[in-house]
This record gives sequence, structure tokens and C-alpha cells, in this order.
Amino acid sequence: MTRNDDDRSDRNRFATVAVGAAETEPRRSGGGANDVVPPVHLSTTFEWATGEDANEHDYSRESNPTRAALEARLARLEGGEHGLAFASGMAATSTTMLSLVPPGGHVVSSDSIYSGTEKLLTEHLVGRLGVDVDFVDARDPDRVADAVDADTDLIWAETPSNPLIRLYDIRSIADVADEYDVAFAVDGTFASPYCQAPLELGADVVVHSTTKYLNGHSDSIGGAVVTDDEEAFERSAFAQRVGLGNGLSPFDCFLVARGVKTLPARMERHERNATAVARFLEDHDRVDRVRYPGLESHPQHDLAREQMSGYGGMLSFEFDGTPVELEAFAEGLEVFTPGASLGGVESLVEVPSLMLPEEFARSEESAEVPETLVRVSVGLEDVRDLREDLRNALP
Ligand SMILES: Cc1ncc(COP(=O)(O)O)c(C=O)c1O
Repeated sequence: MTRNDDDRSDRNRFATVAVGAAETEPRRSGGGANDVVPPVHLSTTFEWATGEDANEHDYSRESNPTRAALEARLARLEGGEHGLAFASGMAATSTTMLSLVPPGGHVVSSDSIYSGTEKLLTEHLVGRLGVDVDFVDARDPDRVADAVDADTDLIWAETPSNPLIRLYDIRSIADVADEYDVAFAVDGTFASPYCQAPLELGADVVVHSTTKYLNGHSDSIGGAVVTDDEEAFERSAFAQRVGLGNGLSPFDCFLVARGVKTLPARMERHERNATAVARFLEDHDRVDRVRYPGLESHPQHDLAREQMSGYGGMLSFEFDGTPVELEAFAEGLEVFTPGASLGGVESLVEVPSLMLPEEFARSEESAEVPETLVRVSVGLEDVRDLREDLRNALP
């Protein structure tokens, strides 16, 4: 399912699954009617029964009909066997890492990653569990190959990366992982399953913060893991259901399932608006460099065309001005909201050096985040208002 495929029916199938694959969901409401929208099962416990009446679910921490329906839908959207829904993107990430990496193990990670993931790796895995972590510039898969050895437990890549919008070649890194028989996990949050299919490209596990595009409305924190790997699934499912008990609540599952229905429609408009905003910024004389995978000027545009079926709504740019001017720009925006997070219907900007000084200081060392970098999550507003807002706020 890539942008270059002539067979557009893949896209249709994706949208059909997103809108609601009835056969994977419990439809009988109990009131003598078939629900078009599956109900939210808030019950924490289910009546014990035997024989034909036996329940699939006993206790909601372990499994719940609303969560099971969402997990099946997420797995189908990623083209994977097993889906798991977690209480946050970080819960999905940490569960994956802790399931695949033993104390004293070895991880090779792309150097441009979400600051929370970087903290988890350095503070918990390195600091508490004695894990050896190599951060490498994974834009060159040879660097990954150089860092991996027979004792490596996990290769981690976030593509496109937060906030530098770097891309990592999933197929080439999967080849390295196969050669050394190492698990390979991709954080595909920025792309969403609509724009990128890591499992099809050879990754073993795909992780998402559903807080972002999958839910899409900035009103639910959640995470997802999809995998074909039985061992990775069994360990992460044990952690979710028992060991860590960090599954997504039924109500949040309902919100994500509702959000997923409009994922294809939203992603297409996110991309249209982001392309227009990226081109506007590229032409602005107070903007130095725009990073958007859909721009021909992105150094990895060819890779984006190859491994993504859409370019998404995330971009970043370097502001040409002083820190004081940068602050005035952020404060001067009226349609864009300055703030953390991304992937919702509303446009947001984040200036890491201004809004996340501690994280900025850390990431500057590891991945060269410029002080004047502005990360933009382009929403679904009228693009004329977005351009006008930027024109007014930029000096
Ligand atoms: C790429 C990426 N992965 C994971 C996360 C963590 O997700 P959550 O905030 O839902 O825990 C984020 C959060 O911003 C992110 O940007």
C-alpha cells in the first residue's frame, strides 16, 4: 500500500475497514437490536457462565468487548495479526521495550525520536536496567548495521521523526534486523496507518500514540501496538492484561474507534493543508528551511514517495530571527494554538526551545534540534485562514 501503487482499491479497503468492519465487532446490544455503533462496555466484570453461554470476557482489565473491537480494527488497519490498545503512547512504547529487551540488553535507536521515548531509554532502560543504548543517525541504514550485533535485542526507529521530520528507510533497516535476527519496532505516530504500513515493509512491531491522528480530536490519551510476532504479542499482552495492567479504558476505546472512522478523510485534508502551508513557508523570507516529506526540497523526498502512501500533516521549519521575535510569533498566532501534542483537527505549533526547554536541551545534544525550530501540526481549518494567520504573526 504505497503512494506509487496503481491499485487504488487498497485505499478503498483501508477506508472501509476504518469506517467499521462490522464482522469484527459485537453488534447485538442485548436490547433486541443490532447496533450500528457498538456500545461502550463499562462493566468491569462479566457473569460467569459455561458451555454455549461461556463469555469471551471475564474481567475488564484483562479483556473487554469495546477494547477487543478496537484492537481488532487497529490490527486490520495495520495489516497485522494482533492489536493491543494501551493507556497512552508511552505505555505502548514502554511495554514494547520492556517486553523485548531484558536487563543488560542492547537497543539501537534512531537518534531523532520523541523526547519521552528518549527519556524512557536513557533514564529507565539505561539508568535502571543496565541496558546499553546506541543512538545512531539511522538515515543511513549502514550506521544501524554498524551498531547492531548478535546480542542486540531491539532496533527502534521513529519515522517520520519528532520534531525533525527525518525519515528512516523501514525496508533497509528491516533487512539489517533480519540478518541479525533482531526485533525491529517502528513508531509510526506521525504518519498514522493511513500514510505508512511498517509491517508490510518488514518491521516486526508498529507502535502509535493514538492520542494523535488515530483518535484525531485531542480528547483522549492512548496508544497502540500491532504485530505479527507471536512472542512480542504474548509478552506485551501479558503486560497489558496482567503485569502492568495498562490497557486503554473502554470509554477511550470508544473515542479512538470513533476517531478511526474518519482517519482517511482527515489525513487527506491534513496533507492538502500541510502541503499548502509548507509551500507558503518555503516562500517566506523569514523562514530558513521547511521540513515536510511531501516537499521536493526534503532531502528524503524520494524515500517518502517510496515508503509512504501520504505525507501527513506534520512539518517543521526554522525561523530566521531572534528568540524574542520567535516568542512574539508564537504569541501573535490566532488560528494556530501554541501548545504540545499534534494530530488533532485543530492546528497547533510547538517551539521546543521555548515551550520544552528541558527536553530541548537534551535533544539538542543528540539530534541537533535548532533553537529556532517550530513544529507545526496542520489541522483541518480553511487553509486560507492558516496562511493568513502565519503571514500576520511572522515579522
Ligand atoms: C512520535 C511520538 N510517539 C509517542 C508519543 C507518546 O504518546 P503519548 O503522549 O500518547 O503517551 C508521542 C507524544 O507526543 C509522540 O510524538
